[in-house]
Amino acid sequence: MNITIIGSGYVGLVTGVCLAAKGHEVACVDLQEERINKINNGEVPFFEPGLSELLRQTREKNTFVATLDLSDAVRGAQIIFVAVGTPSTPRGIDLSAIEKALASVGELLGAADDVKIVVIKSTVVPGTSDTFARQVLERSSGKIAGKGFLLASNPEFLREGRAVDDFMNPDRIIIGTNDARAATIMRQIYNDYDCPLLQTSTRNAELTKYASNALLATLVSFSNELAGLCEQVPGADLEAVMEGLHLDKRLSPSINGERLRPEILSYLSAGPGFGGSCLPKDAAALLGFAEDSNVEMPLLRAALSVNSARAGKIVRLLEKQIGELRGRRIALLGLAFKPGTDDLRDSPALRIASALLDAEATVSAFDPVLKGPAGLLDLRIAVHDHAVSALQDSDAAVLVTAWPQFAELPWEQLTRVMRRPFVLDCRGALRNVSWPAGTQYTRIGTGPATELSGERRG
Ligand SMILES: NC(=O)c1ccc[n+]([C@@H]2O[C@H](COP(=O)([O-])OP(=O)(O)OC[C@H]3O[C@@H](n4cnc5c(N)ncnc54)[C@H](O)[C@@H]3O)[C@@H](O)[C@H]2O)c1
Repeated sequence: MNITIIGSGYVGLVTGVCLAAKGHEVACVDLQEERINKINNGEVPFFEPGLSELLRQTREKNTFVATLDLSDAVRGAQIIFVAVGTPSTPRGIDLSAIEKALASVGELLGAADDVKIVVIKSTVVPGTSDTFARQVLERSSGKIAGKGFLLASNPEFLREGRAVDDFMNPDRIIIGTNDARAATIMRQIYNDYDCPLLQTSTRNAELTKYASNALLATLVSFSNELAGLCEQVPGADLEAVMEGLHLDKRLSPSINGERLRPEILSYLSAGPGFGGSCLPKDAAALLGFAEDSNVEMPLLRAALSVNSARAGKIVRLLEKQIGELRGRRIALLGLAFKPGTDDLRDSPALRIASALLDAEATVSAFDPVLKGPAGLLDLRIAVHDHAVSALQDSDAAVLVTAWPQFAELPWEQLTRVMRRPFVLDCRGALRNVSWPAGTQYTRIGTGPATELSGERRG
């Protein structure tokens, strides 16, 4: 099929390249010329494992192209996915990018001889597709939805860092449409996917996306609330508590005597809070939508407020252990909101850095994929290309992102260059490191640090 994707960011580009790899003819459109040129030169404009290789293959087969030319892309397309950003506003989400994209598409639909499908892939609050999007398209095209064009919702569940695999092997495909023709064509796009395909109304599809992210946000905040409690209870350790909790067979079922470890368990562990472009934004948008519908969602509100307080709590925990932060140098390990991505949007590391800077500490950082200075917090975070320079003369290292390579760092050397070898692990990622004598290592969710036995050398 001929498919056009509007918006060539994380979702749009992954969707476009993966659908092209499945044999469709795809054009990805964007407003950013630099982005389009990069993609057409075979470069992925962000870090996403596996995407460059797939982009190369699809370009070689001539099944994928990126373009600034919306009219050409829409003219040749049977299906138009809209995957532009829907950033947070104080009261919900900003639909201006969607509105602009749909208005331009609508004008082109007005002149089209065929009946095309417009699919909303961006995350939007329930009712957006069948009211706002429909109205914008009808107004700009002069045609009626269901006759002159078809409309569907197809929310995306991919996770950055694993986006290609998530798109190719999804848990589920949700198609929101009441139109039988749209449903048939949407099913054809996904006909060789080996997962449940749920067809429902556009509003249910839109709400399913929010419900999924609201649940994940709630699990994370539940875990972090418990971590805060453990930090005050002598001898308590959240990791041990969670290990016991995970062993509930309803969470880790036993198959042929072997315990499965479903991925959902990773949301039931302590950390610096959820971040990224989806969970905080989607949880807040759902809350705003509920308020507009005169519904209180106190549980979700609490999940968000636990999350906003998390960075401050971690900084206070650090202060409790190493004393006043003013004038201290704190090194952050990890900046991206999770491993496998270079996405900094709403990253907990930035929230922690901001709280440290407010406490008049200096902040340095090392991240395996984000290289400095990157304009972070007005350049007040010194981003280093190597862990050793980030930790040089630091009073504490705080591991924020669970990059697996942090456990393999040369800790003997690193703790030696630190002014004070204190390590606060916000992810439990360093729990198996053999710490040089004299290092103070502590994880969140546990009591105060204990100095490791033996004299520190050097
Ligand atoms: N990033 C994720 O992991 C993820 C996962 C699921 C759903 N989503 C949702 O998908 C949507 C897109 O998210 P993203 O992370 O890909 O955003 P993004 O910011 O990475 O990409 C959006 C792209 O759209 C382009 N754009 C904006 N207006 C345009 C227009 N009129 N015409 C052409 N291009 C235009 C921008 O230039 C940008 O390149 C959002 O609603 C988001 O909530 C994101």
